[in-house]
Amino acid sequence: MTRRVSLTQYLIEQQRQHGHIPQELRLLIEVVARACKRIAISVNKGALGDVLGTAGSENVQGEVQKKLDIIANEVLIEANEWGGHLAAMASEEMEGIYLVPNRFPQGEYLLMFDPLDGSSNIDVNVSIGTIFSVLKKPEGAKGVSEDDFLQPGSQQAAAGYCVYGPQTTLVLTVGDGVTMFTLDREQGSFVLTTESVSIPEDTKEFAINMSNMRHWDEPMKRYIDECLAGKEGPRGKDFNMRWIASMVADVHRILTRGGVFMYPWDKREPNKAGKLRLMYEANPMAFLVEQAGGAATNAHQRIMDLTPTQLHERVSVVLGSKNEVERITAYHLDAKS
Ligand code: AHG
Ligand code: MN
Ligand code: MN
Repeated sequence: MTRRVSLTQYLIEQQRQHGHIPQELRLLIEVVARACKRIAISVNKGALGDVLGTAGSENVQGEVQKKLDIIANEVLIEANEWGGHLAAMASEEMEGIYLVPNRFPQGEYLLMFDPLDGSSNIDVNVSIGTIFSVLKKPEGAKGVSEDDFLQPGSQQAAAGYCVYGPQTTLVLTVGDGVTMFTLDREQGSFVLTTESVSIPEDTKEFAINMSNMRHWDEPMKRYIDECLAGKEGPRGKDFNMRWIASMVADVHRILTRGGVFMYPWDKREPNKAGKLRLMYEANPMAFLVEQAGGAATNAHQRIMDLTPTQLHERVSVVLGSKNEVERITAYHLDAKS
């Protein structure tokens, strides 16, 4: 019988063999995984658990909050605040940072999350997820402030997501490749199912919300027009398209079989750099994708090199199979010069 390795075993073995997962970070990852299990239970209950529909409130970004956005946010906070591994948290669903209450010990790590990604898919029973990113509090910083979070993605100590789909899968990087764990519902534990995830450099599959095409800039239109032209066009091959409208699910497909994902800047709200958020959507996904051999840019430069100026900063995102990301980025840079 093949040996089943749980997330806990995997993390302990990594710590022993390579020493690159400090104890506090291991605890943090396990606590996040436990929170994801609780969120998965609520997601699976659906209408039976009274978790569908809107909550009647808006978040700081002016988006209508779904009941599950709020439930998932609370689960993540409750699970993480008391363990002593964190200094503070930040979330898509909270305007400011959340300091660990004084009654609990303070740790060195900062946790950011999109508690429920793909909110428009909750009520229609399509895959959704939780995305997280971990930074270390800057050395010597007294207390914690929002500025402590504004570090480039290249500083992430760990990142991952949990996708709630036909299977519940936790995908993790601590900067040494990407590993996938599938939730065994009967046992209640995440079991290692894929090691050394690798994204093929080339692909014939792209993911973008095509309904926004008329709002894109020229280099983006050029790239998609060339894909749509298929075999007879300049690319000389037919492309396939997928758009799930849950970044977690689209990125999960790309980590599994390759592809390129784009949510570019567009003219609908020209003052916003993009729709997706840098700190808890783009950075963790960029870290995972790079660790799997892919690339991630804002169509001009590497996402993980960007220094954030605000917690809820938005960014254009182009990520996935390396050669396609490089092509799209080159089209944008050519148009600029
Ligand atoms: P969230 O539900 O956390 O607000 O994120 C939704 C994001 C992302 O998951 C997805 O790729 C994108 O928004 C979908 O946007 P459109 O509805 O514009 O296609
Ligand atoms: Mn999201
Ligand atoms: Mn969300």
